[in-house]
Amino acid sequence: MSPRPAPAATDSRTDIALKQPGLVMRAVSLRHGTAAEIVQALDDVHLTVRPGELAAVVGPSGAGKSSLLAVAGGLACPDHGTVTVAGHDMTVASRRVRTGLRRRHIGFVFQSGNLLPALTAIDQLRLAQRIAPRAERTHRDAYEMLTEVGLADKADRRPDQLSGGERQRVGIARALVTEPSVLLVDEPTAALDRARSHDIVRLLAREATRRSVAVVMVTHDHDVLQYCDTVYEMIDGKLTIGG
Ligand SMILES: Nc1ncnc2c1ncn2[C@@H]1O[C@H](COP(=O)(O)OP(=O)(O)O)[C@@H](O)[C@H]1O
Ligand SMILES: [Mg+2]
Repeated sequence: MSPRPAPAATDSRTDIALKQPGLVMRAVSLRHGTAAEIVQALDDVHLTVRPGELAAVVGPSGAGKSSLLAVAGGLACPDHGTVTVAGHDMTVASRRVRTGLRRRHIGFVFQSGNLLPALTAIDQLRLAQRIAPRAERTHRDAYEMLTEVGLADKADRRPDQLSGGERQRVGIARALVTEPSVLLVDEPTAALDRARSHDIVRLLAREATRRSVAVVMVTHDHDVLQYCDTVYEMIDGKLTIGG
């Protein structure tokens, strides 16, 4: 066994976070804008999401929900606080290292699926597999993943040949095929009818458990909160439990 360097004197809460799988955010603050007009997008946010947990974040437009996902996923660096994903500190790392951690450990799902128009469903997944810095053999087979989300028979269709709910399923399959530790989902049901919305969030809850992924889902849809393990509310950059 190679000797480990002695741990540096750090905040004990950070030490604990570095041992935890899933997502841990501690005292995270983020400001947008210039001195003339500063927006406190995140204000002392604490959030822990364990593997297998589906956490929902509700709140009005402009409350900071997308900022929360951007910081959790290493797309933005907070002004203060720490973010760890699968025990990796996303805040002290260089941008290059952060990008590597993001590709290795984070999956994103966006409102409209954000699929590439020219690619078939299966190729959306294959492209994601090529980008993620992980040994090919550890990737779940793309067809198996599409089967899991109920789309085995539509693997060769392009996004314009799929319904809104099917596109969202491809988006979820693409995010999961690289086996992320944390899945960040921004308003996945915004473009879907009620039945499809329930299907999508049930799928997220099932995959969270099945794959031991820590899932954070931002939503306006109070109807689907019944499938979530924890519900948080965000108002003016402050995150509270309940909602
Ligand atoms: N890049 C940016 N520059 C300046 N202000 C921003 C930027 N991104 C978001 N904001 C502001 O930060 C606040 C939170 O935004 P956001 O996280 O997108 O909220 P939500 O997703 O809850 O609607 C809003 O007031 C928004 O206008
Ligand atoms: Mg948003």
